[in-house]
Amino acid sequence: MTLETPSFSPGLEGVLIAESAVSLVEGEAGRLSYRGYSIEDLTGPTGTFEEIVALLYDGELPTQTRIDEMRVLFERERALTDDQIAIARLAAKGTHPMFALQAAVATLGPMDNDFERKVDTVVERGQSLIAKVGHLVGVIAQAVDGRPYDGPRPGESHARMLVRMVTGEDPTELQVRVMDALLILQADHSAGNASTFTSRVVASTKAEPEAVVSAAIGALSGPAHGGANEGSLRLFQQIGDPAKADERISRLLDDKFKIPGFGHRVYHVKDPRSKVIQRLADEVIKDGTPAADHYQIALTVEKVATERLGDRGLFPNVDLFSGCVFEAIGIPVDFFTPLFAASRTAGWTVNMQEQWESGNRIFRPGQVYVGEQHRPFTDIEGR
Ligand SMILES: CC(C)(COP(=O)(O)OP(=O)(O)OC[C@H]1O[C@@H](n2cnc3c(N)ncnc32)[C@H](O)[C@@H]1OP(=O)(O)O)[C@@H](O)C(=O)NCCC(=O)NCCS
Repeated sequence: MTLETPSFSPGLEGVLIAESAVSLVEGEAGRLSYRGYSIEDLTGPTGTFEEIVALLYDGELPTQTRIDEMRVLFERERALTDDQIAIARLAAKGTHPMFALQAAVATLGPMDNDFERKVDTVVERGQSLIAKVGHLVGVIAQAVDGRPYDGPRPGESHARMLVRMVTGEDPTELQVRVMDALLILQADHSAGNASTFTSRVVASTKAEPEAVVSAAIGALSGPAHGGANEGSLRLFQQIGDPAKADERISRLLDDKFKIPGFGHRVYHVKDPRSKVIQRLADEVIKDGTPAADHYQIALTVEKVATERLGDRGLFPNVDLFSGCVFEAIGIPVDFFTPLFAASRTAGWTVNMQEQWESGNRIFRPGQVYVGEQHRPFTDIEGR
């Protein structure tokens, strides 16, 4: 039998890496659904992150009893030891919160490294990590701000805990609802996005779940992926004046600069998440605030970049507008991507479970070797 050599696909474009029943991205139609339910429906006024975690794990819309169970589970599982809190606070002193988070999550791992023997705990460990990663984001935010540790409170939902711990203020109902919607929107995005693919690659080596999530956080940190929400807001801050946005964006595009929050490998229409985020923006952004100016700039980016790039299938993605909404609820820029990570831990861990359940064959793609071959060796004296 001769094996046909598969063709080389930079960025693995068009390569199918898994069978998945978790979320579906329909790039041409501009639709995203979790377990068959559209994100527009899932981000309705009563939607909570706990509800969506239950949906992602169970495959069915949860009853109120199941949602309550998930809340109890989160409250129990988010507990961290004093040492884990101290490590996260220390890490936050000298590095970006994403790297502090990545390091802190890795140190949640066990003393042994033999997950195959414990794989029947994959759901338990995954859900526990979702709860703990959120708590760690709050711990790191308090440390960055120079605030003492003030942990989760009894009865506090995941979204409420996150807003309170990150901002240092007791949130309003609107802030909590917006945070729930942002967590829901970013919870999963098919098996093929870079960080979820990373989680599957690391899971395929039979690594412990903490190693899986820590690696995925590293992948998400990049400006071409999750880091784009921070990148877009920093660009808006640099532009500063909405009246100058048109000209500045045109120049950046002339210089071939890649606008953060624009373009997507799969969507060739406007990202459906950005439409939901704009609905939130209309509700939460107040006139006369920096978030309002930044949102005006984001709208100009959309207009100018769509005029220039729309015919090539490039449109706003989730990160063009999400930063403005995070900013409007008081989240500091450095914490946009960590909060994205807190949310996407749901998708990473469900994909980890699916990876194990589908036989978990190790990822081991090939390469096109373009280097020298069979060269005569010269010892040190002869070089
Ligand atoms: C998302 C992204 C990484 C997809 O990458 P990709 O599918 O590999 O597409 P490419 O980077 O090869 O881009 C294809 C073309 O579109 C252009 N392009 C893509 N995104 C662009 C952007 N944001 N601004 C300007 N031009 C862009 C590229 O310059 C390239 O043009 P060329 O063919 O003339 O060289 C890319 O669009 C990007 O870097 N966007 C900004 C970062 C971002 O928002 N990431 C979050 C994604 S949810």
